[in-house]
Amino acid sequence: MAILVTGGAGFIGSHTCVELIAAGYELLVIDNLCNSRAEAVSRVEQITGQSVVFLKLDLLDKPALDACFAQHKIEAVIHFAGLKAVGESVSKPLLYYHNNIEGTLNLLAAMQRHGVSDLIFSSSATVYGDPDSVPITEEAAVRPTNPYGRTKLMIEDMLSDLTASPADNHIWRVVLLRYFNPVGAHPSGLIGEDPSDIPNNLVPYIAQVAVGKLQQLSVFGDDYATPDGTGVRDYIHVMDLSNGHVKALQWLQQQDAGSSMCEVFNLGTGTGYSVLEMINAFEQASGQPVPYKIVARREGDIATCYADPQKAQHLLQWQADKNLSEMMADTWRWQSSNPNGYDDPQE
Ligand code: NAD
Ligand code: UD1
Repeated sequence: MAILVTGGAGFIGSHTCVELIAAGYELLVIDNLCNSRAEAVSRVEQITGQSVVFLKLDLLDKPALDACFAQHKIEAVIHFAGLKAVGESVSKPLLYYHNNIEGTLNLLAAMQRHGVSDLIFSSSATVYGDPDSVPITEEAAVRPTNPYGRTKLMIEDMLSDLTASPADNHIWRVVLLRYFNPVGAHPSGLIGEDPSDIPNNLVPYIAQVAVGKLQQLSVFGDDYATPDGTGVRDYIHVMDLSNGHVKALQWLQQQDAGSSMCEVFNLGTGTGYSVLEMINAFEQASGQPVPYKIVARREGDIATCYADPQKAQHLLQWQADKNLSEMMADTWRWQSSNPNGYDDPQE
């Protein structure tokens, strides 16, 4: 029996594959490689010393998806596959609704047809929009502010409707994981975040400045109501986040197999850092200067966002252990040994 990992060649998916293999699970990875490289899966094999079954497969391709469920024994699904760029979702909303919503509908239909009940879904703290207060608990209001965030909330709603439906004979056991800001890389430096374009997110941008690919960082605003005026976020090491998936899967598999359920968890550290603190921490970890200039605020940004992670601590027995300097040291190891991401040949 295998765990089906959709989007398993991507940033979070590839790291989670390493943690799942370490926990003894057998994997089946599918990805259409629209934002990733098959090399990431080879590197997972290199790290773990285990072979991983990988299929290049698009969730929009229903017959191929159905054949995949027919040919493999699947015990649970971890669903990472989706498009995730906020700005692109504003300019191409149909692409986002088509890929993220329809891809998920196809996946759920295939699960139902083939009697697979257990699902972990990659949601995002973006569903909270601009929070009324921090730390943010799972009970906080949800009001995403862009099409990407709305695809996440729509899928959450779909899954919650599905698990509440008495007319449906299929049992669904679902966990929704709302990630805060994933950063870092596997400590081997073999896998990490490999943006296909100029990064939108802070840490990959800083890393590319430090390695000399980009000239300087633009800090989006220093007039927020935060201690140093720059935006504050809950950055979480991708290995901690990956371990959260293993804990969520183990917890899900212990739940009553006779009734449907849907449970939501924040995965964050509970601590916020400002942009200037992040620059400083990266300079310390890498020994490289990160030149920056303060520019206007980025449209749609909020001042402060960090999690209340207590629910995951109590129910999943999970908490983030890695500190900011580990996040930055691991990012730098990945970036400096693979300046062009997976394009760089390995010796
Ligand atoms: P990623 O782009 O690195 O990984 C997503 C993977 O899904 C890619 O490998 C891509 O090729 C694949 N994919 C996309 N559409 C597909 C389709 N139709 N069929 C098959 N494969 C498809 O992104 P990531 O950072 O690893 O994020 C994983 C998940 O976590 C996404 O759903 C994302 O929205 C969510 N998430 C990410 C963050 C973040 O900051 N990275 C934060 C919150 C939530
Ligand atoms: C972004 C997404 C959010 C997504 C999250 C994690 C937007 C509006 N929101 O949020 O939906 O869930 O990533 O993937 O894109 N910053 C700079 N300069 C930069 C880049 C960022 O100063 O070049 C600042 C931002 O203003 C923010 C902080 O760094 O204060 C973090 O930014 P980023 O990494 O983009 O994450 P979020 O804004 O939290």
